[in-house]
Amino acid sequence: ARDPEIEALIGKMTLEEKAGQLNMVSFVPMHETKFDPITKGLKDGTVGSLFNVHGFETARELQKRALDSRLKIPLILALDVVHGYRVIFPTPLAQAASFDIEAIRRSEDIASREAAADGVNLLLTPMLDVSRDARWGRVVEGPGESSYLASRIAEARVKGVDGDGGHSFAKSCVKHFGANGAVEGGRDYTAQDISERGLRETYLPPFRAAADAGTQCMMSAFNAPDGAPTVINRRLLTDVLRGEWGFKGVVTSDFKAIHETVTHGVAEDDRSAAKLAFTAGADLDMESRAFVEHLPLLVRESEIEPAALDEAVRRVLTLKKSLGLFKDPMRGLTAAPQAALKPEHLAASQDLAEKSFVLLKNKDRALPFAPDVNDVALIGPLGDAPADTLGPWAGRGEPSETVTLRMGLEKRLGEGKVTFTPGGTAAASREEEIEAAVETARRADVVVLALGEKFDQSGEGASRAELGLPGDQMALASAVLALGKPTVVVVFAGRPLALTELAEKAPAVLYAWQPGTMGGAALAAVLMGDVSPSGRLPMTMPRALGQVPIHHDQRITGRPYDPTDPYTSGYRDQSPEPLYPFGHGLAYTDFAYGAPTIARPTLRRGEDQTVTVRVTNVGKRPGVAVPQLYVRPLSARVARPARELRGFARVELAPGETREVALKLKPEDLATGRPAPVSRSLPAAWRS
Ligand code: IFM
Repeated sequence: ARDPEIEALIGKMTLEEKAGQLNMVSFVPMHETKFDPITKGLKDGTVGSLFNVHGFETARELQKRALDSRLKIPLILALDVVHGYRVIFPTPLAQAASFDIEAIRRSEDIASREAAADGVNLLLTPMLDVSRDARWGRVVEGPGESSYLASRIAEARVKGVDGDGGHSFAKSCVKHFGANGAVEGGRDYTAQDISERGLRETYLPPFRAAADAGTQCMMSAFNAPDGAPTVINRRLLTDVLRGEWGFKGVVTSDFKAIHETVTHGVAEDDRSAAKLAFTAGADLDMESRAFVEHLPLLVRESEIEPAALDEAVRRVLTLKKSLGLFKDPMRGLTAAPQAALKPEHLAASQDLAEKSFVLLKNKDRALPFAPDVNDVALIGPLGDAPADTLGPWAGRGEPSETVTLRMGLEKRLGEGKVTFTPGGTAAASREEEIEAAVETARRADVVVLALGEKFDQSGEGASRAELGLPGDQMALASAVLALGKPTVVVVFAGRPLALTELAEKAPAVLYAWQPGTMGGAALAAVLMGDVSPSGRLPMTMPRALGQVPIHHDQRITGRPYDPTDPYTSGYRDQSPEPLYPFGHGLAYTDFAYGAPTIARPTLRRGEDQTVTVRVTNVGKRPGVAVPQLYVRPLSARVARPARELRGFARVELAPGETREVALKLKPEDLATGRPAPVSRSLPAAWRS
């Protein structure tokens, strides 16, 4: 049934006002522009949504101006809130390493509340691009390589942002629908040519999960997996998303994506780009201004059905209504949010950071440090780097409010026990700097090397063609490790790096990703053994760059790798095995697993299976086991991966404790070509 309030509004709108509702533009702060040209657009109703907006006062002022327009329609105010708003959580890839779905949901709930209190009503999150290519800078924003893990994360994130009934002022806008992560050569905005099966099995499932979890907004991918950029890809936006999945929400383009179809060589000009994108199924035009300029004339010249324009406007107004904007355009923004970070939000951020660290190697139990450790040398460019601890897309997170590793260790160990040197920013020559770092290490009881990537070495447009430690950090590491001191390497990075040489030389390697506001406190807790590391890799770590793309669910070939047979699927100069596989991660204890049992040996349509496994903590410390369920049909009509993740749990175990863990397996978890199409009838006013 149609909403009478929305229908009444549509009935009063001019074509220009309708196109205005489909126009989303980037907000430029008022002091920089004296509020133009946005002021005009708000007054005449030709700007219906803004993004890059934050700030309580700004939000109120913008809504006030929109309410001065003829039809008084409030604005969507959107922002990329990717891993927290004021309190920054670990990056999404790091969060995926926690395998803790509830903690991930909670992080989004907090981000959504903080952003909403500061005037943002649409969060351009979660990013759900499955990717198998660590060169791609945007893997840092995503859920990793497994479409199954990504789908569980998708549900949690959408429920977290949208409030799951708990709070209702901000909503998610899931991105980037399509196969944005299927890049070529790791370069942003490129696309592999993907089969229908690949699309449906690997890239689309998280978006389907997000749609089923109730998100009301999807951003289309930039790239063109079958030659047609997603924003003009009617088969994806309309046939699959709306037709098969029954998605009723808003589809927005990415930044200038409609205009860029001209550069892409698939549209002649902005007018034809607007027509192509609109008829494909895009509702909101982010920053191209092609809809607002061309849709009215396209309707007047009968190139677009008036009913189709109304339908898109209806969807945008429905989103605005469900944001609560018609009832209260100021959305309860009566007082500026408190400036101080909330202790419970900081605690949630630290908890998720602790769960996201992956202990890759721990020879002779180099970690944790002894409780009475006295003299720690902290060496490396990431040891006291607040912005790099936060990571890219750090919302309104402040480096000045961030706990670095140096700060975390100093607080945990007390005054005077930590000597820090970045090992390379002073004016001295590189050799002298490294020698000075080695001297600092020589005098210490234990050494922590803080190495890795800066925050801007991953993220949008930040792909890398090399996957080693940047610069000459490996030379610094080799010199320090040659001392033979108890040394732990903490790696900060936005992606899995290829760290074969480092992993050979270092006794212990802890992968810290970019851990957010409380990162240093969380690291200190793990290094000192207050908490056992419990993260598991959400992406395979390559041994060498040439192995990329590499992932756990590669299809079996007719000649699987056999080291004794050269005519099998390997390399002449390198093992094809990863350095560390997907799902790898050590704890400060050991676990023993029993043989899994299956409740019923036959799967029946519509019935779930339960796979049970006994897990025992056989070590001396408490720890978290993460049993993972992988499946492989022994025979199928199409080649299947040797293993695909289809279930997991986090199980806390005291020393000596045993638990039976039951993992659910649904029939569709074994299906090929997922997600299975559902037939739902197309809406009446379907676009022609
Ligand atoms: O939301 C982002 C998107 O992920 C990448 N391009 C820019 C958009 C708006 O900032």
